[in-house]
Amino acid sequence: MVSRIIFYFTGTGNSYAVANKVAKELGETELVPITRIKDFPIEKYSMVGIVYPVYYIHAPEIVIRMLDHIHFYSSQQIFIIATHAASWGYALSDVKSLPAFSDCRHVQEFRVKMPGNNILEYGAFPQFYQKNILRKADRKINEIVTTIINKESTKSITPNLLARLFKQNGEGKTQVFHDLGEKFYVTSNCQHCGVCEKICPAKNIELSNGSVIWGNQCQCCMACIQWCPQNAIAHPALNHKRTRYTHPDITQKQLWRI
Ligand SMILES: Cc1cc2nc3c(=O)[nH]c(=O)nc-3n(C[C@H](O)[C@H](O)[C@H](O)COP(=O)(O)O)c2cc1C
Ligand code: SF4
Ligand code: SF4
Repeated sequence: MVSRIIFYFTGTGNSYAVANKVAKELGETELVPITRIKDFPIEKYSMVGIVYPVYYIHAPEIVIRMLDHIHFYSSQQIFIIATHAASWGYALSDVKSLPAFSDCRHVQEFRVKMPGNNILEYGAFPQFYQKNILRKADRKINEIVTTIINKESTKSITPNLLARLFKQNGEGKTQVFHDLGEKFYVTSNCQHCGVCEKICPAKNIELSNGSVIWGNQCQCCMACIQWCPQNAIAHPALNHKRTRYTHPDITQKQLWRI
């Protein structure tokens, strides 16, 4: 029997939405946050997928870390999907080159363009543009599912010239994510609802005595800022006029960690 599992990392729901649609189309596929990968007997699955966003032309550090000490087998069908807003850069090669995949005969690799969510740099894309991107993404996901089902080989997704020029920059930014996260703070709009604590995929937020406290494990996924129902989270790099973005078909409860 074919047993399938997809591990995902997501901040604003794009990667979750992609993983969810692929899982539904494949049928009988478990969908699990990648932060729980060590709780699963990987060797029991004949098909494993990994879906995650691109952060500054790289795969998120937490995805790389979670795949440390994981080992996939040559008998397994493995696919990786990066969701991105513009340049995917090294996000697929970062993951595919990990020791976890060294025994895999072929790793199917895909990318799906989705609306951008980096609110520290820009606000939500205009609605018509978001809809257009999501419509195209839907078609792309259907193609991806067909490729997975047919076990077709895929071409390596390599960085474009622009990404190669910015490689240094991307690596540098990845290293400062943890520090960036420590600069978040709440405004007087905070209602102490606890959504930010529940939704942070890196367990980096704690509500204590009515205060919201950020730790030093931030992935800069933007989930806390984007999902806060009161728009109460601020950051020195945040322009307050920017509108929030979360995937329109995903509810915050689908992403709650606890
Ligand atoms: C900190 C940060 C950096 C990002 N860097 C890139 C990038 O280099 N290239 C890109 O195409 N998209 C970039 N994005 C956009 C996300 O990859 C994209 O919106 C993704 O689909 C978000 O997925 P999620 O909703 O599952 O978190 C970045 C987003 C964030 C928050
Ligand atoms: S989600 Fe927003 S309102 Fe709720 S506790 Fe966090 S900062 Fe406060
Ligand atoms: S603190 Fe906020 S930005 Fe950082 S990982 Fe958690 S939810 Fe994402």
